[in-house]
Amino acid sequence: MAQLCILVSLLTLTIPHLFISGVLPSATFTIVNKCDHPVWPGILSNAGIAQLPTTGFALQKGESKTITAPSSWGGRFWGRTLCTEDSTGKFTCITGDCGSGKLECAGVGAAPPATLAEFKLDGAGGLDFYDVSLVDGYNLPILVVPQGGTGANCTTTGCVVELNSACPSELKVTSTDGARVACKSACEAFGQAQYCCSGAYNTPATCKPSSYSQMFKNSCPRAYSYAYDDDTSTFTCAGADYLITFCPSPSNNQKSTSEQENTAAGNVPLINNTMVYEGVLDETSGSTCAHMFRSQVIAGAVAIVAAIWRLCQIF
Ligand SMILES: *[C@@H]1O[C@H](CO)[C@@H](O)[C@H](O)[C@H]1NC(C)=O
Ligand SMILES: *[C@@H]1O[C@H](CO)[C@@H](O)[C@H](O)[C@H]1NC(C)=O
Repeated sequence: MAQLCILVSLLTLTIPHLFISGVLPSATFTIVNKCDHPVWPGILSNAGIAQLPTTGFALQKGESKTITAPSSWGGRFWGRTLCTEDSTGKFTCITGDCGSGKLECAGVGAAPPATLAEFKLDGAGGLDFYDVSLVDGYNLPILVVPQGGTGANCTTTGCVVELNSACPSELKVTSTDGARVACKSACEAFGQAQYCCSGAYNTPATCKPSSYSQMFKNSCPRAYSYAYDDDTSTFTCAGADYLITFCPSPSNNQKSTSEQENTAAGNVPLINNTMVYEGVLDETSGSTCAHMFRSQVIAGAVAIVAAIWRLCQIF
């Protein structure tokens, strides 16, 4: 009887463990399109990491989609714009195109310029590392808001400013009708080592911000503006889910929200208050369901084991 009890108890403890390490996600990403136009998000896993179940889809204005990622996933999200399918069924986008010819990017990344939201889950110290990067240029404003995580640097990041209209003419990308749709990095525009942090410039000591990267940094102080911009641009959370918003919309409580957000992360503001913008933040809360579910599974298992032991002692 005692052996049976131990066996049953062990099984009860093991089953939720399997759920937690395998079936249950390590994090969820909720992607929201608040732009006044459709966005076709693309997702690329880092080298050696399996692609997520979807690598590209459409989000109409106002739509959102939640994606679950397994533990230790790493990769990037971006938004494609002005996408069309030609008469042969080939799918292409004016910005962020992944060249797959299809809605799904299937292991191909964004053609620059594109704003990137980059993640590495369960990295050093069990923390998720994340950033929003303009190193490959800019096409859309992106806001990343951690949901339910912990840590001193577990805070909102992003580039929430519309930079296409402010893009210098030597960096601008226009659609066939002349509209400004993206803004190149200096590296892409000029291909010079000093901008790309390559060759003799491949260290933090030798690769310095340029007037171009500084233009991105002034507008988006928490986003990566060039390859060695780590100090003010990398954020970490333990146990968070993430809300990724394209074109975060104006909000009535913007003042209090942005003040609060502006005091986090070593006083590097999300928004540069010395510049004038049209309104930005709406910190809608996403879902912390997966994490709550995980703790409920554990609590349930512990309760069942306790009950089995009590029963065993009666017999
Ligand atoms: C804000 O922008 C101004 C230039 O417009 C710049 O001098 C200043 O350093 C920027 N502030 C931050 C925090 O990036
Ligand atoms: C948070 O970020 C700042 C600035 O990058 C860094 O100095 C500090 O060590 C970080 N804190 C934690 C807890 O990671």
